[in-house]
Amino acid sequence: ANTHHQKWEVAYEFRSPDCFQKLAITINGRTPGPTIVAGQGDTIVIDVKNRLLTENLAIHWHGIRQIGTPWYDGTEGVTQCPIVPGETFTYRFVVDRPGTYMYHAHYGMQRSAGLYGLIQVLPPAGMAELFTYDYDRSIILNDWWHKSTYEQAVGLSSKDFTFVGEPQSLLINGRGKFNCSNVRSGVCNETNPECLPYVLTVVSGKTYRLRIASITSLSALNFEIEGHNLTVVEADGYHVKPFVVKNLNIYSGETYSVLFKADQDPSHNYWFAVNVVSRKPNTPTGTAILNYYPNPPRRLPPTMPPYGPLWNDTMYQLNQSNAIRSHPDYIHPPPLTSDRMILLLNTQNFVDGYLKWALNNVTFTLPHTPYLIALKEKLFHGFDQRPPPETYDYKNYDIYAIQKNQNATASTSIYRLGFNSTVDVILQNANTKNPNNSETHPWHLHGHDFWVLGYGIGKFDPEIDPKRYNLVDPIKKNTVALHPYGWTALRFQADNPGVWAFHCHIESHFAMGMGVVFEEGVDKLGKLPTDIMGCGDSKYLKRP
Ligand code: C2O
Ligand code: CU
Repeated sequence: ANTHHQKWEVAYEFRSPDCFQKLAITINGRTPGPTIVAGQGDTIVIDVKNRLLTENLAIHWHGIRQIGTPWYDGTEGVTQCPIVPGETFTYRFVVDRPGTYMYHAHYGMQRSAGLYGLIQVLPPAGMAELFTYDYDRSIILNDWWHKSTYEQAVGLSSKDFTFVGEPQSLLINGRGKFNCSNVRSGVCNETNPECLPYVLTVVSGKTYRLRIASITSLSALNFEIEGHNLTVVEADGYHVKPFVVKNLNIYSGETYSVLFKADQDPSHNYWFAVNVVSRKPNTPTGTAILNYYPNPPRRLPPTMPPYGPLWNDTMYQLNQSNAIRSHPDYIHPPPLTSDRMILLLNTQNFVDGYLKWALNNVTFTLPHTPYLIALKEKLFHGFDQRPPPETYDYKNYDIYAIQKNQNATASTSIYRLGFNSTVDVILQNANTKNPNNSETHPWHLHGHDFWVLGYGIGKFDPEIDPKRYNLVDPIKKNTVALHPYGWTALRFQADNPGVWAFHCHIESHFAMGMGVVFEEGVDKLGKLPTDIMGCGDSKYLKRP
């Protein structure tokens, strides 16, 4: 196995990814940052220098389980103290499974400011992929706002709540196009080369593997290549039983590989189109160009970009989620029973008049001392020791109505799991504080992959619905959608000693408390590296 050593400088710079200039967070001058390409079993070493001047920093390696290195998961407040300005922190971890993953900031709302990129883990040399293709290409999708993340964060955390609103642009490989006609000149310039569309050149007759990742801060997206079918073959690093779609729904935190063949009329170019689904769109279609060689790469297709499926067709989204099954040759069978079931009701609530998201009426707040350090070093006053609720009053709760008592409590409490136990988590969606409204939440688990046992619409019934679980060929993933008014059932093994965040991957929802934390086997860990220490009660532990 190889070691890949990189040096990253993280800084704010003026950038115009959608032609509108704003401050973006860059890695070595780039947003998206460099793609990490490594082989299975390789070690990644990244020296991260925080040059943000006035902001802390932490970087999470999304989809990498950090087996044996829970302290390098990069989750500020959970696994480490933040990297303070001027400081360099070294992440060191092994990429143990081939597939497509991501990295992004995990401090405040910095992900939204542009700190993100791709990780590609290749199978060991000589070991072929299950599916065949001629070329391997990647696309990372994002949504983009012109307001600074500070303005967004202050709006979200004020009594006089201001939502971040719909994004101004959708970015494909860091490029979008904002209509500058109503913006004063100088700040917005549609001829800026930074916002030229991404072009993928293809040769007629060849088959392409396209790795697609979404790191959006809010939007659920639908991805389409005009006129070309997509065969889904990978999800979050696992082999999918191949199925064909015209377009692919992708939720924040998910990655897919699709195969497509350049089998259309090669005399012109085609659109890549990205559209918002599951929220009423107020963002133009994001576009890029599929260029058939030897047409001029930037020649626009003669058509209008596809506008995608109906944004509020929940059944369309649910059916596609259900179609994602494990490839028969790569089934990792789930344990047939579990030791514990945690049923989490997802609601909007108020805490002291502040709008929050809550699980079983508890809204999550990060402690001053990261959990991993507090637990290992027995600094137990660092967080609330009472266990959070395992369930809610599912017999009497009406998920289609606005919650009667909208008050919730804020807590730093965590779920402590038996080491090696099998845990079921059922996410239950409900009405928000607005009538006839329920949102889509992409839930992401750190440190593990889980089996997706099933989805349903309506209220989960613990007596009946487990009988419908797919225990035959469930896909394993690290991120999964909770559909409006629906439920999603997951199973995982608590076999990775550490402390792990499990949260909605919508940046503003997590900032408003939509997450929980799991702990398992911390007593099995050796000495913690002192470079993760230095904040809260761990000040005194950090010795030079
Ligand atoms: Cu990609 Cu905790 O997130
Ligand atoms: Cu959410």
